[in-house]
Parts: sequence; structure tokens; C-alpha cells
Amino acid sequence: MGKAIAIDGPAGAGKSTIAKMVAKELGFIYVDTGAMYRAMALFMIKKGIKAEESDKISKTCVEADITIKHENGEQVVYLNGENVNGLIRTEEVGNMASASSVNADVRKKLVELQQKLASETDVVMDGRDIGTVVLPNAELKVYLTASSKVRADRRYKELTAKGVDCDIDTIEKDIIDRDYRDMHREISPLKQADDAVLVDSSDMSINEVAEKIIQLFRK
Ligand code: DC
Repeated sequence: MGKAIAIDGPAGAGKSTIAKMVAKELGFIYVDTGAMYRAMALFMIKKGIKAEESDKISKTCVEADITIKHENGEQVVYLNGENVNGLIRTEEVGNMASASSVNADVRKKLVELQQKLASETDVVMDGRDIGTVVLPNAELKVYLTASSKVRADRRYKELTAKGVDCDIDTIEKDIIDRDYRDMHREISPLKQADDAVLVDSSDMSINEVAEKIIQLFRK
């Protein structure tokens, strides 16, 4: 088992940006578990399966071969041999991932893959259930959050910078809905582990948050 830092929290709290910075500084591998759920969601969308068809999701998830590789310092997600990094960042895939990730068979398959990765190397892993379920013995657990307003504002800026036409109120509503689903699902709901450190990034810069986590780890 390598060393591990678990970073959990709601969508848009800055987990992936910060986890990447921390991993780089410490020489750990960054593992984005949301990308795995997104790849699985993409598979379901391609198969024409709807979020509410849980039996079909259970049956079909065994056909999805999801693998993670690290190429030039970047995590690349392969779905049945295809690099899907460029296809999984849409709102449609994010919403399907939030819905299909409630499925026990999907979770079992992806948790096993995540635990295998962490057993082979030192990792900074981010997600929703890393500190509570995937890596309960992680050296450091962080619960990273920010207000829904701040998170919506960050997402709005990100999308408009890419030239995507969007509405900030709709984005905030989507964030609140997704939080609710992630926090209230039966299996592995998003919650702060008892031994996780709470970090609210609403009024902190990315650098400040990354530095705080590195300090906590080195303490
Ligand atoms: O972090 P993200 O937005 O890329 O994750 C997409 C969805 O995947 C999210 O709504 C919930 C789900 N997810 C999960 O259930 N467990 C994880 N460890 C990571 C993500």
C-alpha cells in the first residue's frame, strides 16, 4: 500500500485542480475518480440507457472496461480501449454520472479499480467516498467545500472562457441538485469522514488551499 491523501467534497469545490497541484508537489500520482464515473456514464449514454434504468445499468456496467493511465503527467481514461478524456467533461455526462453512480454494481467495480491503483503507488485521490470507503486508512483526509454560489461562479467563468453560452442561476441549481443526489444516495453518500479535515475554499485562492493541504500532510 502506498501513501495516500484522500480529497472528498461536492462538485466544483476545486478538488481536481488542487489535488493535481498537491500530487505534483509531493511526487504522488493524481487519481480523479469522478472521471471513472464519467467514463461509465458515457458508456451508458452511448448504449442509450437512461439514468433510471438501474437493472440495465447493473447488467451493462460489466461490459465497460475502464482503465487509467498516466501519460506526460496527465491522467488518461480509457473506455474499452478508447481515450475518452475529451468526451467526459460535458454537463450531460456529469449529470448521468451523478445518477448512475448510485448503482451498487457500478460502485463496486470502480472502487476495486481505485483501491488497486492506490495499492501500487502513492496517490492523491479525489472523489466523494475516498476517505469514507475507498481509502479509509489514508494518511490525510480532506473534505474540501465552498458555497454553491462560489462554485457556480467558478463554473460560469470556466464555461464562458471556453465560449460556452450559459446561465449562472441554472448552473447553481444544477450544483445544488447534484449535491443533494450525491449526499442522499443510499450507497456511499458524500459526507465528511470523521477524521477528515474540513477546508472551505470559498474565500481562499487555489494556491492557499494547496499549501494548506501540503502543510497538513507534512505535519
Ligand atoms: O467529480 P465529478 O463531478 O467529475 O464526478 C462526477 C459524478 O461522479 C458525481 O456527481 C458523483 C460521482 N462520483 C462518485 O459517486 N464517487 C466518486 N468517488 C467520484 C464521483
